[in-house]
Amino acid sequence: MEMLSIGVLASGRGANFQSIIDCIESGYLKARIALLVTDNPNSYAIERARKHGIETLILIPEHYGSRSDYYRKVAHELKIRETGLVVLAGFMRIVGKPLIEAFPNRIMNIHPALLPSFPGLHGQAQAIDYGVKISGCTVHFVDEGMDTGPIIIQAAVPAFFDDTEDVLSERILKLEHRIFPAAIRLFSENRLQVVGRKVRIHGPVPDDLSLINPQIPE
Ligand code: GAR
Repeated sequence: MEMLSIGVLASGRGANFQSIIDCIESGYLKARIALLVTDNPNSYAIERARKHGIETLILIPEHYGSRSDYYRKVAHELKIRETGLVVLAGFMRIVGKPLIEAFPNRIMNIHPALLPSFPGLHGQAQAIDYGVKISGCTVHFVDEGMDTGPIIIQAAVPAFFDDTEDVLSERILKLEHRIFPAAIRLFSENRLQVVGRKVRIHGPVPDDLSLINPQIPE
């Protein structure tokens, strides 16, 4: 089987991008990163890509006539590198139709909340303000909505009364770095099947998990 070729889109710090690089280098992920695209010339992801010899394109949306033109360009650059999967690793924009149509059910996003709760920006702050006792993160396929596509994997963490946005974000981020590579791995093993708006995972999956916060006696 040919090795999966990944294109990464990132806007900011790039910690999720780094975790994917690390999982490839450790052998957990059998894949290669063909290209990093960033919309932000100051993104630290650029430096991470340089350190690991990953080709980078800085594509600024404002330099294109329209959103569609921009995403057509992004799709073209990914296609000519024979990308099999597009990964949004902290890409802070809603993806346009030309990219989605070029990669149907082949774009994954990570979101720092348990979707469908708290989509959009600052999912962690939204969760704190609402007062939830459990939060977490979600990896999903991307459709034209904002954080609405079929869910692949979710991870839950407790949220505590005194949590600040930073503290909860840090707790969630640790799990982001585990579930994003895990989702990519399932994809690379051909174990994901989109059925309507649900994702079937082929192969064994444990079903005895629970997280209760605050803890209650047995
Ligand atoms: C991550 O927490 C990611 O889940 C979130 O931005 C952060 C990017 O951090 N993404 C979104 O909020 C998307 N709506 P990183 O650049 O260090 O990976």
